Amino acid sequence: METAARTAPAAVIVAIDGPAGTGKSSTSKAVAAKLGLGYLDTGAQYRAITWWMLSNGIDVNDATAVAEASGKPAIVSGTDPAAPAIAVDDLDAAGPIRTQEVTSAVSAVSAVPEVRSRITALQRTIAAEAPNGIVVEGRDIGITVLPDADLKVFLTASAEARAARRSGELKGKEAGDLTATREALIKRDAADSSRKTSPLAKADDAVEVDTTELTLEQVIECVVTLIEGAGAAKAGRDAR
Ligand code: DC
Repeated sequence: METAARTAPAAVIVAIDGPAGTGKSSTSKAVAAKLGLGYLDTGAQYRAITWWMLSNGIDVNDATAVAEASGKPAIVSGTDPAAPAIAVDDLDAAGPIRTQEVTSAVSAVSAVPEVRSRITALQRTIAAEAPNGIVVEGRDIGITVLPDADLKVFLTASAEARAARRSGELKGKEAGDLTATREALIKRDAADSSRKTSPLAKADDAVEVDTTELTLEQVIECVVTLIEGAGAAKAGRDAR
């Protein structure tokens, strides 16, 4: 991972949203490292609380039970883009949150309003305390979590491109065939976009970047340029 090599912007808050497989995590981590910003993977937090529910015998389809338990796990997220970390009740959760079991259950858990309000509060605290600014990636960051972000980016890509990327990431682990991956992604996006509380959606003031035909390097360059612009605008405002 590169270390800060480009112009350090003023302490900008950047929201990067979009569906699964659009390159959000790879892009967010890389731009944060290039610009010396913190990085927060909010999907990892929803996965962590889901893992805790599964490990503690909570029925993830019972919204009342999930709501009642939602305040119990202690979730701690690191913000170093070179070493993203997530712990639940002092246990390293980075591995277990990526299993198929968690992926299949996370949409149900993250649709529960009590889960969302708890995780949203955590995210706002982390962003407010980031000394050099932060890139926060997720589904509802630009609209709900950080509506005053200095820059909002919404990444999209065709379902085919997203499924191909996700299959590549899973290769050798739990990759099924491409069609199954595509179906699972579409199902998860539909659940995340149609839930009542804070669905996946593009903020009116977000810059949409369609990554279907772009390499990861091109997406990173595009977002770095957008952040540098937002950083310069913020520095100008702060100087006034
Ligand atoms: O980014 P990811 O695939 O690791 O996210 C896992 C799930 O978490 C995703 O299916 C929906 C949920 N999520 C959410 O509801 N809100 C966010 N800000 C981030 C993720």
